[in-house]
Amino acid sequence: MHVLVIQSSPNTDGLTAACASAAIKGIEAAGGTAENVRLTDLDLSSCRQCDDGWGGCRSEHVCDGIDDAFQSLHEAAIAAEALVMVTPVYWGDLSESHKCFTDRLRRCEASLGAGSRLAGKPVLLMAAAGGGGGGMVSCLTNMERWAQHVRMQPADLIGIKRITREHKLDAIRAAGETMVRQNS
Ligand SMILES: Cc1cc2nc3c(=O)[nH]c(=O)nc-3n(C[C@H](O)[C@H](O)[C@H](O)COP(=O)(O)O)c2cc1C
Repeated sequence: MHVLVIQSSPNTDGLTAACASAAIKGIEAAGGTAENVRLTDLDLSSCRQCDDGWGGCRSEHVCDGIDDAFQSLHEAAIAAEALVMVTPVYWGDLSESHKCFTDRLRRCEASLGAGSRLAGKPVLLMAAAGGGGGGMVSCLTNMERWAQHVRMQPADLIGIKRITREHKLDAIRAAGETMVRQNS
């Protein structure tokens, strides 16, 4: 199983990166392959709400409003058999780069309804929070709603903060491994 792992913190050695690494370990332990993408390294703009707001993505199912890193990422997401998404919790929500990507991906795929090219694929959703962890649950709720819109199947939803780091990283590794084993 080929898994696209999407992470969105600028910190290369932070909690988000540790979550992605743990998931990749699990994926590879189950015989899967992982492609690791760091959204903050990419040129990725927010949706421009083209035309009357619906834009060409509603009928064409591609983003032709902005030519940037989105198009190749969109193709990679369609080609992958599963996704892993891990965002730092910012303001109780996904990070800005993660929102840019998921907003545009949702517009292209949710408009296909049950024919979404992501439909039925598993997705492991993770929110990496700070010390208190406030807003972790609302971030995960928003990730879950996104998965519903594009008709993906959450393999798990995992919140992690600094003081839960050790045992949650173990859980994330196990979740990555289980997701590949159950879907291969
Ligand atoms: C702009 C901004 C907003 C944040 N908002 C929250 C928040 O709402 N709740 C929380 O628990 N942590 C919040 N944090 C802390 C980050 O979620 C936390 O430091 C996280 O571990 C960052 O991941 P990283 O280590 O991979 O960069 C915020 C951090 C930033 C920079």
